Amino acid sequence: MPLEGTLAVVTGASRGIGRATAEALAAAGATVARLSRSLPEGTHGPFRDLRCDLGQVADIVRGTTRILSEWGTPAVVVQNAGLFVLKPFEATDPAELDQQLALNVRAPFLVAQGLLPAMRAAGAGLHITIGSTCDHLGYPDNAAYTASKFGVRGLHEALAAEYRGTGLRFSLISPGSTDTPIWDPFDPDARPGFLRRAMMLQPEDVAEAVRFVATRPPHATVEWLRLSPTPPRE
Ligand SMILES: NC(=O)c1ccc[n+]([C@@H]2O[C@H](COP(=O)([O-])OP(=O)(O)OC[C@H]3O[C@@H](n4cnc5c(N)ncnc54)[C@H](OP(=O)(O)O)[C@@H]3O)[C@@H](O)[C@H]2O)c1
Repeated sequence: MPLEGTLAVVTGASRGIGRATAEALAAAGATVARLSRSLPEGTHGPFRDLRCDLGQVADIVRGTTRILSEWGTPAVVVQNAGLFVLKPFEATDPAELDQQLALNVRAPFLVAQGLLPAMRAAGAGLHITIGSTCDHLGYPDNAAYTASKFGVRGLHEALAAEYRGTGLRFSLISPGSTDTPIWDPFDPDARPGFLRRAMMLQPEDVAEAVRFVATRPPHATVEWLRLSPTPPRE
């Protein structure tokens, strides 16, 4: 059990990639603090569930403070929670852009501010950002999401540079399309040019990548892991 006795934090762990990731880290021995708006608070086996609306600054401050005071300093933080809007650029309104930036950039920024000082003091720890193919490539009808994911990749790069030499490690995992509820409002199976859900990655594929990154020995850092669905056979 490579993560035995450690605390991991996973944001957005009530479903999809975050839920699978929390389960994979727990299977590797970690106690896992799961943050979301919908999981009932409390201890459930290896999980410590915390209600936290990551769109609210005060909630993030309260949540990260509680993690440190009740469960200690995390060895692994997975910044996973995210929102996805699929809309033509000219139809995207300022409120939708703000939502994307609040969840996909501001929330990880503030979660990191809440947790990294204690991890720096401990002299060890791993901070994993769940980016996306859209953290380095642009697609049509994706401007707000892509801007936010390029933004969080920038945050990852800046933190890795600023904390260099502290013992902390920073990893970016950039998955391609993954069959989770994030796609439910958009029905990709009915959209020409979109990968069918059956061909997408599964949440467990991404969780396994997180487990791999989180179980490397302290002298090895996975800086960037790109994971994509295999293109369909023609
Ligand atoms: N699925 C894909 O194709 C794909 C591909 C590349 C990257 N990603 C990235 O992977 C991450 C997870 O995506 P997913 O597909 O697993 O999404 P998902 O199934 O929609 O799950 C999103 C998670 O984020 C949480 N969340 C959303 N808003 C929140 C808020 N205001 N406060 C707290 N938690 C909130 C949700 O919990 P509650 O609703 O319970 O709060 C849920 O647990 C995201 O960063 C996404 O951009 C996904």
